[in-house]
Amino acid sequence: MSLTFMSRPLLIAQITDLHIKPPGALAYGKVDTAQALVRLIETLEALHPRPDLVIATGDLVDGGSPEEYAHLGALLSGLSLPLLVCPGNHDDRVHLRRAFPHQPFATDLACNTRHDLGPLTLLIVDSSTPRQPYGTLDGETLDWLQRELYAAARRRVLIFLHHPPFLTGIEHMDRQNLRDHAQLETLVRRHGDVRLIAAGHVHRPVLTAFAGTIATIAPAPNHAVALDLDGSLAPSFRLEPPGFHLHVWWPETEALVTHLVPVGTFDGPHPFFGEDGKLL
Ligand SMILES: [Fe+2]
Repeated sequence: MSLTFMSRPLLIAQITDLHIKPPGALAYGKVDTAQALVRLIETLEALHPRPDLVIATGDLVDGGSPEEYAHLGALLSGLSLPLLVCPGNHDDRVHLRRAFPHQPFATDLACNTRHDLGPLTLLIVDSSTPRQPYGTLDGETLDWLQRELYAAARRRVLIFLHHPPFLTGIEHMDRQNLRDHAQLETLVRRHGDVRLIAAGHVHRPVLTAFAGTIATIAPAPNHAVALDLDGSLAPSFRLEPPGFHLHVWWPETEALVTHLVPVGTFDGPHPFFGEDGKLL
């Protein structure tokens, strides 16, 4: 029997590391992150079928200032899809909350959110550590995460957060990953049906196994951290092709499939087969 997908899937577009600056400013003096977000939104809006939800996994702005969040808000006015966010190390929790007043954050200080999407429980976790580049799960977040995973005992869970809980081999980024990865691993293994842990922070697509499940890093719409696996480069970036992750849940088979989608418009689609049904 061939494996086919029949029913409509649930689509979650994960965007990350937008690094919006004040209007007119370039990130690191080089990267027009506002223009990159505009192109990303154009690509998201052109997707068919349309995503059910967009999740932005942190570093929404570059310096955490109200001016940057205002700029982000103006740019996001071009996005018609529902959006949920969590902070990264470049964000400021207080200013982020003010910029997203309608998001139902579940905790008082940390910006944690649960969102139920059909059979899926999405846990959007705040791994930011105020004024530090590395990630942690503070007491408030760990308590909330434990409660939510317990409440979702019979549901499929996807976890979104900024800091990867695993090493990528890019040393200067690994030094600032999720320090509380052991606590996360314990909670994920105890639940037993977490299907994905989706992070950002490294600005490149990465896939690995963690805590008996799949863990990913989504690429950024702007600059990519240079792929340096032997520490031979100073911490640096390249202007590689921008992209995002499209996580697709197929209800009948309960399969989760993640697609790496490049930002932009490209020549095509061109048919493989002619009108006579033969391969061209
Ligand atoms: Fe980050």
